[in-house]
Amino acid sequence: MKIAPSMLSADFTRLLAEIKEMEQLGADYLHIDIMDGDFVQNISFGPMVYQWLRPHSDLVFDVHMMVQFPERYIESVAQAGADIISIHVEATNHLHRAIQQIHQLGKKAGVVVNPGTPVSQLEAVLSDVDLVLVMTVNPGFGGQIFIEATLDKIAQLAAIRKEKGYHFEIEVDGGVNHETGKRCVEAGADVLVAGSYLFNADSRQQAMEALRQVGQ
Ligand code: DX5
Ligand code: ZN
Repeated sequence: MKIAPSMLSADFTRLLAEIKEMEQLGADYLHIDIMDGDFVQNISFGPMVYQWLRPHSDLVFDVHMMVQFPERYIESVAQAGADIISIHVEATNHLHRAIQQIHQLGKKAGVVVNPGTPVSQLEAVLSDVDLVLVMTVNPGFGGQIFIEATLDKIAQLAAIRKEKGYHFEIEVDGGVNHETGKRCVEAGADVLVAGSYLFNADSRQQAMEALRQVGQ
């Protein structure tokens, strides 16, 4: 099991130190949320922000694009130093082409589903993707409550993966803590994104350890 702290909850006045701390605590991925104010009702930051971090970190940069028509920005997202680029199934009419574009740039491709979107919408691309990100809250903001009904989608994806012999990782994002995270892992999740649970913890080290225990 892998842990992906979500940069959205970091203190941006000391961003590099925050990221280095998560790296030292044993994070696997750095989850990076790009929001365009259109696909979601919030604006976060663009690729320039993590481009500055890239030379200073060995973490896998896991970029979650909450962007309408993501194909317009895939190239700049890749060039800024993303390792995994995930796009929402709800945000493009050309999902297959966008995944090809990500792979042509030498990056891993992920596809994301909102809580209201069924797994069936993804089935045509599951053989092509490296990661499936299941939103366990409606995207746009950190610190929201985990939506229970999404557990079933994680289990469905894990079953399809097994049946067809696919290799994508299953990542979950939103409202993840040591309790909800445990249930996600039991349902089949491989990567836990955690923003407020890790960054707002009294002891980040204890929070990281508690998340790590989930996979034991
Ligand atoms: C929400 C973002 C998440 C967010 C998670 O739209 O995609 O990555 O940072 O935050 P928490 O873990 O606080 O729910
Ligand atoms: Zn995210």
